[in-house]
Amino acid sequence: MSERKITLQDRMALHNGNKLKIGLFGANCSSGRAVTLVPERWSGSWHDNLRLGRMADDAGLDFMLPIGRWKGYGGDTDYQGATLETVTWATGLLASTKRITVFGTVHAPLFHPIIAAKQFVTADRVGEGRFGLNIVVGWNEDEFEMFGVRQRDHETRYDYGQEWIDAIKMIWSDAEDFDFDGQYIKLKTVRGKPKPYGGSRPIIMNAGASPTGNAFAIRNCDAFFTQVSRDSVEESTKIVQNAKAQAKQVGRELDVYGVGVITLKPTQREAEEYYRHCIFEQADWNAVDRILAKKKISPETVGAEEHQRQRNGFAQGMGGLAIVGDPDRVAQIFINLSQAGLRGIGVSFVNYLDELPYFLDEVMPRLERVGVREKRS
Ligand SMILES: Cc1cc2nc3c(=O)[nH]c(=O)nc-3n(C[C@H](O)[C@H](O)[C@H](O)COP(=O)(O)O)c2cc1C
Repeated sequence: MSERKITLQDRMALHNGNKLKIGLFGANCSSGRAVTLVPERWSGSWHDNLRLGRMADDAGLDFMLPIGRWKGYGGDTDYQGATLETVTWATGLLASTKRITVFGTVHAPLFHPIIAAKQFVTADRVGEGRFGLNIVVGWNEDEFEMFGVRQRDHETRYDYGQEWIDAIKMIWSDAEDFDFDGQYIKLKTVRGKPKPYGGSRPIIMNAGASPTGNAFAIRNCDAFFTQVSRDSVEESTKIVQNAKAQAKQVGRELDVYGVGVITLKPTQREAEEYYRHCIFEQADWNAVDRILAKKKISPETVGAEEHQRQRNGFAQGMGGLAIVGDPDRVAQIFINLSQAGLRGIGVSFVNYLDELPYFLDEVMPRLERVGVREKRS
């Protein structure tokens, strides 16, 4: 079959006309993003991921974004203890779907750039232009210790990340037999074939939150994941506009995405009750405390009030907007985020497969009616 031409804009639009892109975040990990003991919590098995990927693809959802995690957090559930490696996971899903974009989440310091560039091209060719790359430079030190790799300090981590992505982009380009002589990465007479599908490169995303991480995203990425406000359109608009303006200053276009944790039930009261049940009464607090300890967030380092705020935030899905409500309320939050200029949102559920059908039946048509989503045929 001949290769279709696709542009970077096609890829950034995730190959469709949906105004607000909606994707699933974290399904490659056991428990997903909900640090909870409830027995219905997410398995993270390949079987469930494959069923979920096909369901999402058939329903016209736009993307799946995995978490790059090598070691569980422990606690009573060993939170995120069983994880599927993200590039192989993405390739399996891309081979089994037709429309959806699937990201790999890759720790730059752990993947040799020549191997990584070829893995991404392979996934992209399997998906005919539907692979996306989420670059992470490292978060948890014990994961790096496990590899025998010393975690660089925060600033040089992003310097390394810059060389890594520069090398990968060169391998994807038409450059042949080139030398790469960076401070950290040195490559000789490099060739990489084939190239990504359709004459354009995979889209790149990043979620750096520090000033350095933020600047890295703005310099290199097409999609930037950040925190936005659930209720205040004005506040979210400011956050989105600010990121876009910074990108414009360096001559780049940037789409801004958010992260949401959905609890959707037929009534507002049921949604709030289920949220309280999973996230407070049945939270895996031992795992939450380990997550916080790894990030050196304790009453001593950040003060008692902030520690409590962070503790609650991490229990409800490792951060992100808590979107809790009946279909009208949940749809309204998505509409607000779209009005604020957000290009998309990555969402999670306690059990993706059990909860997604109700979301598709009740929330999607409400979004279609107001033009936030294209009508499904
Ligand atoms: C949507 C999203 C996805 C992320 N995925 C991962 C991940 O899978 N693995 C990881 O180690 N870090 C992940 N991170 C962490 C970020 O890459 C980044 O390190 C973090 O936001 C802190 O920012 P900083 O590196 O600028 O300090 C993610 C963050 C967000 C908001």
